Amino acid sequence: MKLKIKLGLFALLLVGVLLAATKGPVVTERTLSISKKEGVEDSLNAFDKMMTVLTHKRCVNCHPNDHIPKQGEDSHPHYFGMERGANNLGFEATNCTTCHQTENNPYSGVPGAPEWSLAPASMYWEGLNRIEIAKSMMDPERNGGRTPEETMHHLTEHELVLWAWEPGVNAEGVQRELPPVPKDEYIAAVKKWFKEGHVIPSK
Ligand code: HEC
Ligand code: HEC
Repeated sequence: MKLKIKLGLFALLLVGVLLAATKGPVVTERTLSISKKEGVEDSLNAFDKMMTVLTHKRCVNCHPNDHIPKQGEDSHPHYFGMERGANNLGFEATNCTTCHQTENNPYSGVPGAPEWSLAPASMYWEGLNRIEIAKSMMDPERNGGRTPEETMHHLTEHELVLWAWEPGVNAEGVQRELPPVPKDEYIAAVKKWFKEGHVIPSK
């Protein structure tokens, strides 16, 4: 009889200890799957933000699907019959940097940044939707053999990319439109998307 009570108490105690042990900050499968889902959602939000920039005229005008750079908010063909030429730098007599200097020219309206040239034909974005642009950008066959790490650095540090937030005025003296997301928010979104595994949504 006595032994039974003792055993009973012991069992109760054991249950108590076990219960107490499970009360701590235990990571269950449920919380894991929730935080994973949140990660994916963050990544997709970051993707959306990043792609509103990549699909903007300031980028696409220089990533055409033909051999002609585009100009302005309506992306009209570059004046003076300008084309990419043999090396994306224009023609020998008038290559891009004959007119485009390392900085915007506030008087003539010629935009400028170091190494101004046309994105190679394989890197065309004009006419692609955001999913297609993302795929192209991540494809080493089309992006110049870049690793994801290198693409991330290009997107956040390259002078032709960052020019988009200081595009200057056009030939009529009118300020060019900025990309729809502030530069620091865009950079944070790009870094976030790469950190979370650069998932390209299916639609
Ligand atoms: C003045 C022309 C010009 C503008 C404006 C421009 N680019 Fe480019 N872009 C280039 C050139 C040229 C290259 C090729 C550089 C190389 O391979 O070294 C390139 C390459 C790239 C690449 C690497 C290739 C790839 O497909 O992954 C990315 C990413 C890119 N640009 C993003 C952008 C973004 C984003 C913007 C706008 C915010 C932009 N570019 C605006 C000329 C431009
Ligand atoms: C003869 C001078 C000249 C040459 C050469 C030239 N450009 Fe331009 N470019 C201009 C002028 C002027 C503008 C500004 C037009 C405007 O916005 O009103 C311009 C604007 C642009 C824009 C528009 C940016 C935007 O988003 O509106 C791009 C892109 C561009 N040039 C790329 C190139 C490339 C690439 C080359 C070489 C293949 C080149 N240009 C050669 C004079 C030139």
